[in-house]
Amino acid sequence: MAVKTAVRPPEFSALGRRAAPPTIARLMTAALESPGLLSLAAGFTDSASLPVDFVTNAAARLAARPETPEFLQYGTNQGRPLLRRLLAQLIDTEEGWAPGHTSEREIFITNGSQQALFLAMQVLCDPGDLVLVDRPSYFVFLEMLRGLGLEARSLPTDSAGKLDRAALARLLDHIAHGPDRARLKAVYFVSYFSNPSGRSLDETEKTDLAQALAARGIFAPVIEDAAYRQLGFDGHSPSRSILALDAWQPFPRLYTSTLTKPFATGLKVGYGCCSDEAWRSRMLHAKGHHDFGTANFAQALLEEVLADGSFARHLDTIRGVYARKCAALDEALRSAGLRELGWRWTRPAGGLYLWLEAPPGVDTTLDGPFFHACLREGVLYVPGDLCFGDAPEHNRVRLSFGVLAPDLLAAAAERFVAAARSLSR
Ligand SMILES: Cc1ncc(COP(=O)(O)O)c(C=O)c1O
Repeated sequence: MAVKTAVRPPEFSALGRRAAPPTIARLMTAALESPGLLSLAAGFTDSASLPVDFVTNAAARLAARPETPEFLQYGTNQGRPLLRRLLAQLIDTEEGWAPGHTSEREIFITNGSQQALFLAMQVLCDPGDLVLVDRPSYFVFLEMLRGLGLEARSLPTDSAGKLDRAALARLLDHIAHGPDRARLKAVYFVSYFSNPSGRSLDETEKTDLAQALAARGIFAPVIEDAAYRQLGFDGHSPSRSILALDAWQPFPRLYTSTLTKPFATGLKVGYGCCSDEAWRSRMLHAKGHHDFGTANFAQALLEEVLADGSFARHLDTIRGVYARKCAALDEALRSAGLRELGWRWTRPAGGLYLWLEAPPGVDTTLDGPFFHACLREGVLYVPGDLCFGDAPEHNRVRLSFGVLAPDLLAAAAERFVAAARSLSR
């Protein structure tokens, strides 16, 4: 008879002990477990316009090639050379450079741009270090910082969400002349149609930030997260990136972007372009420890769609789709009377999100009264306090118009406003 022995729990590392359940997973589970719930929370893309035909055609072309199907074999750690070349060309176009300006050597392919962000933090920071982040910022990145034992400090913004130069000067003086100077290891911001604010930083703001850092001798590595750059509704990129702006040239620079949001999230391919060879090499060494290469087949499919123009055609389609969905959600919230209840927001020019400010005193945090009112009405959102590196505001809400169809967006908006009205009574 088998003797039953008690299983001893493993002893976790500091990293393991810090790993908290990601909020996004909790919100996604809530949405999946309640079929009637309409989720404005997850940053999923539009399902109806996913590029099934483009991917099918690309796969058929790959399968018809006479040579061995190398795309079903392991690839390289840094990523497929042709895909890196095509992405270098894409960056050249976006920055207004002549072809050949960006070298494919600087580009590396990752498992979503999320992996590039993780690699960057993993090789730069030790527990206890400090990272400057935009305000508000991408909450999954902020959770990652906490998981790595890092502290986030917000770059100050004014009431319009623009970089507040006077407050920034005070913050940087404080850092430059105190013990935080040695702990500061990186600067991070989402600069195009941001998650969550929908705002883009203009070139003056980006340049001001670089100059304010440089004036104090702070040349910390900078990460510009351009995940939504291609999702401007009119097809224009609002500004050049840190790769091109003069003021950022003395800094080690990592530009991250992705092929998930503008094409297919299911392929989960992202990329980084890093100007600093030593930093790039370290990240690639760490990537070797993660997975020694992003899925080769997904990369090969993306080579095909970038090279034959179907990526660009798909972008044209989804820009219109998101412009219409953004308008549908915005208008449904207005016509249901949310403004009259004292809520404020501006309609973004791209991206996937509306960023709402509730009247002071309305608590929108997870498990707070407004969150529960929304659950009762059958609608889900991302509590905005999760999107702050420090000093969170508790009356903010992020709504995504990416995944629901326009009629469901309108229904979700009505539920949302019903929840707001129930609390204002
Ligand atoms: C600002 C931002 N950066 C990076 C990512 C990561 O995306 P992916 O890993 O799909 O490239 C996301 C995803 O939502 C995001 O919103």
